[in-house]
Order: sequence, then C-alpha cells, then structure tokens
Amino acid sequence: MFLTKTQMQTLAGSYHYGHHAKIIRDAKTISMLHEQTLSVLWQLAHAARGTILELGPYVGGSTAVIADAIQPGGRRLITVEMGGGYEAHPHLPSKDIIADLESNLERFGVRDAVTIVKGMNYAPETVEAVAGHLKGEKVGLLFIDSDFEFERYFSLYTPFLNNGSFLVFDDFESEGAPEKAALVKPFVERGIRDGFLHDLGVYPWGTWVGQFRL
Ligand SMILES: C[S@@+](CC[C@H](N)C(=O)[O-])C[C@H]1O[C@@H](n2cnc3c(N)ncnc32)[C@H](O)[C@@H]1O
Repeated sequence: MFLTKTQMQTLAGSYHYGHHAKIIRDAKTISMLHEQTLSVLWQLAHAARGTILELGPYVGGSTAVIADAIQPGGRRLITVEMGGGYEAHPHLPSKDIIADLESNLERFGVRDAVTIVKGMNYAPETVEAVAGHLKGEKVGLLFIDSDFEFERYFSLYTPFLNNGSFLVFDDFESEGAPEKAALVKPFVERGIRDGFLHDLGVYPWGTWVGQFRL
C-alpha cells in the first residue's frame, strides 16, 4: 500500500495528543531527532508489515519509539550500531554507546523486542547477521540515521525490502551536517525521478520519508 503525502501529514501531525505522545516525549530526551520525526517513525513502524531495520540507534531514542510501536504484536526491530563512545556530544554524551542503548531499552520496557547487531553497517558480517536474524522475512521499515556512506548502505540492504516498504532517511537536509546531506539528497532525488522511491515528504529537521518501489 502506498500512502499519499496528505495521509502522511495527517499521521505525522498527531504527536502532541495520540496514545503515543508520552513515549515520543520521553524518548526525545535521549534522541537527536525532532519529536515529529519520532512520531513519523512510531506511525510507520506501527503500520509496517514484517521486521523493522534501523541503522544508527545511538543510545536508543529512535529505537525505543519504534520498539514501542511494534509491541505487543510480536514483531521485531533489528538495530545496527558500531558502538564506541561519544563523550564530546553537547547534549547526549556517552562513554559506551551499546551499554547506554541496552540500559535505555530496559528502562523503556522494550529490550525484548530489539535485536542489537554490533558492527559497521557496511561489513559483510553485519549484513549476514541481519539476514540471519530476518530468517527470510522482509523489512517493512528501513530507517537510516548513520554516517556518510549512505548509498552504499542502501544498496546493501535493498534486497531485504518489499514493494511498499517504508523508508526514513535522516539528513536529507541538514545545517549541522551539510556534507552528509550532499550525499543523501541527490540520491533520494534521483530515486524519486527514476521511480524506485515514492516521496512522502521531509520532516523536521530535514528527515526524508518515503516508500520503496520494486
Ligand atoms: C546520528 S546517531 C543516531 C541517532 C539516533 N537515531 C537518535 O534517535 O538519536 C548515528 C549513530 O550511528 C552510528 N554509526 C555511524 N556510522 C556507523 C557505521 N558505519 N556502522 C554502524 N554504526 C554507525 C553512530 O555510532 C551513532 O550511534
């Protein structure tokens, strides 16, 4: 099923009230994303069929939101994180990203719904681990909020997508990371032009939302 931009706007607009408002507010305290983008993730994860794949959870803000949306349906979220620390981050410093991710997911009561794959997105063993966890199931929502090699990641994980799978790509536009947006934006615009990406709009702060066309 392909959504229209108007349907997407209606879904995305409800984050101050709906039943998911509290998790969005709470998860925002540990996320780099805007509340409306967290709401988009919640809505699309809730609507998606199959497993959800996230590249770049950091300490778990977006992860907690997605995991909340798929409970208690028994679906799973696979998230890929390279780990390490980021002590210089101005608002959300972390000495140990994976440890903080795990403890935040426990705190939000969603740890059981999430499979953490520790590794680099592009490493063959990471892609193999994701495939192993999927067990032949397709990815209904792919969320990429990682580093620069955007197009490479997209092509590595495309085989796991279905016609209509939801896509959320951060840094389509970015004042803070223009060099990243310089890679994401042209790729997305080409995908829309060539017909393999269906455009559902851009949400604050510059996150592109759409669907994959086979
Ligand atoms: C912008 S942060 C994610 C923010 C998070 N989604 C949130 O809601 O706040 C990007 C994350 O991707 C991870 N990352 C960056 N490059 C990676 C790579 N090549 N492989 C795996 N993880 C990577 C970083 O360690 C970091 O935790």
